[in-house]
Amino acid sequence: MVPAKWPLVRETRARAHGADVSRRAAGHTDVPAVFPRWGGHSIPLLTPASPCTCWSPQLAERFGPVFTVYLGSRRVVVLHGYKAVREMLLNHKNEFSGRGEIPAFREFKDKGIIFNNGPTWKDTRRFSLTTLRDYGMGKQGNEDRIQKEAHFLLEELRKTQGQPFDPTFVIGCTPFNVIAKILFNDRFDYKDKQALRLMSLFNENFYLLSTPWLQVYNNFSNYLQYMPGSHRKVIKNVSEIKEYTLARVKEHHKSLDPSCPRDFIDSLLIEMEKDKHSTEPLYTLENIAVTVADMFFAGTETTSTTLRYGLLILLKHPEIEEKLHEEIDRVIGPSRMPSVRDRVQMPYMDAVVHEIQRFIDLVPSNLPHEATRDTTFQGYVIPKGTVVIPTLDSLLYDKQEFPDPEKFKPEHFLNEEGKFKYSDYFKPFSAGKRVCVGEGLARMELFLLLSAILQHFNLKPLVDPEDIDLRNITVGFGRVPPRYKLCVIPRS
Ligand code: HEM
Repeated sequence: MVPAKWPLVRETRARAHGADVSRRAAGHTDVPAVFPRWGGHSIPLLTPASPCTCWSPQLAERFGPVFTVYLGSRRVVVLHGYKAVREMLLNHKNEFSGRGEIPAFREFKDKGIIFNNGPTWKDTRRFSLTTLRDYGMGKQGNEDRIQKEAHFLLEELRKTQGQPFDPTFVIGCTPFNVIAKILFNDRFDYKDKQALRLMSLFNENFYLLSTPWLQVYNNFSNYLQYMPGSHRKVIKNVSEIKEYTLARVKEHHKSLDPSCPRDFIDSLLIEMEKDKHSTEPLYTLENIAVTVADMFFAGTETTSTTLRYGLLILLKHPEIEEKLHEEIDRVIGPSRMPSVRDRVQMPYMDAVVHEIQRFIDLVPSNLPHEATRDTTFQGYVIPKGTVVIPTLDSLLYDKQEFPDPEKFKPEHFLNEEGKFKYSDYFKPFSAGKRVCVGEGLARMELFLLLSAILQHFNLKPLVDPEDIDLRNITVGFGRVPPRYKLCVIPRS
């Protein structure tokens, strides 16, 4: 049987459910609904593996920027385009600050930050942000930490001696160690078995979560949870990551000196100790372990995948790589480490980093939000508990803001004089109350690490750049780049 394509979306059914999909005047009470069908049954969204299109553009064209999709029995409101997404994330911050459930992460449900839709989310998030700031989030501390780790990365790259290698874990170990230092005051050797094991769990989960099966599972988990399938692997991996962070939290607890916190875990443990006589303590060892696990995989896999995808893009565009070498040589020179203050003098690198994030569109559908109360939005009533998806690809691939959005063009972020051009459509980290906690850290890492790599190495593809395919291999939770090998050749 052939899966239903979007033209099969049943507009008539939407009308039958009281939604007028052609005239959506203010005052409407229900969001236009679409019912993807496969045979006689509702199907979950199966997203095409393409570098630029997710499922929402076609639907938005037909139904407008706010529409409902029924995924199994779940009612999901999808927002498409700058105006609707921005209005939801920034003008209705509180009303849509809940987190929609992701069944594959059921073990983390209502704990930690990312998957927390419960009463502890706000305080855990606020305290984590403050603590990260104390440990250098957005401050000198993080810059130092990234620069120190960059030395290890360069050394590791030199060891490849110009031979082909898969960059996944070599490049991935750098953001892994930066966040490990913040969380555990620890770093790992690039060949450390434990580090490689954890990175492979993060990497495998990001891949599996982006496959169609996991989207099916996340919408039909009640029926599928006892069935075999790759969702079991994801759930097992999540447990193994949590076991690791729980062991580290317990180990820290035993050796805790409240007058001298060593890292993020100690800071949370000190809060836990202060709060321990409360009837409903905010922090437990379990909640701390989930918070740490959240930071660990979100802080590693996202930045690592962006860097890896970014290098592949540069292999395909040697003319862009050459311009970057020229800018780096002029502004930084060959010997000192790139620093954050170089960014203002390096508009081309700044534009390339932004364009990488725009083009790869790492988290195209954002993470699901949930309405925390009945809310009227653009004339529609969205009931409490409705899952809301403020799509990010609809901003990053906006045709007016970024002409030829499916082409990689640093000029999307440069004005006519070659200066960096800001765009308010650039929201790969989302916005509002749930905005990515690690945005500052990730942006610093991307700029400093890419600059450091290109300061010291020329990238060499194993095939003709023309033949490099930039299309993702799967897209769902995230967009996953193809696996590839490259050579790095020392520049001096
Ligand atoms: C290129 C790198 C990254 C990208 C593209 C990215 C993207 C995102 C996105 C789209 C969200 C969902 C926001 C929403 O629900 O509206 C998110 C949430 C989150 N990110 Fe990131 N992220 C990146 C790096 C990081 C790093 C380095 C960390 C940790 C230091 C981190 C920690 C988190 C956390 C804890 C949340 C959950 C926030 C909440 O639910 O309140 N991320 N990120």
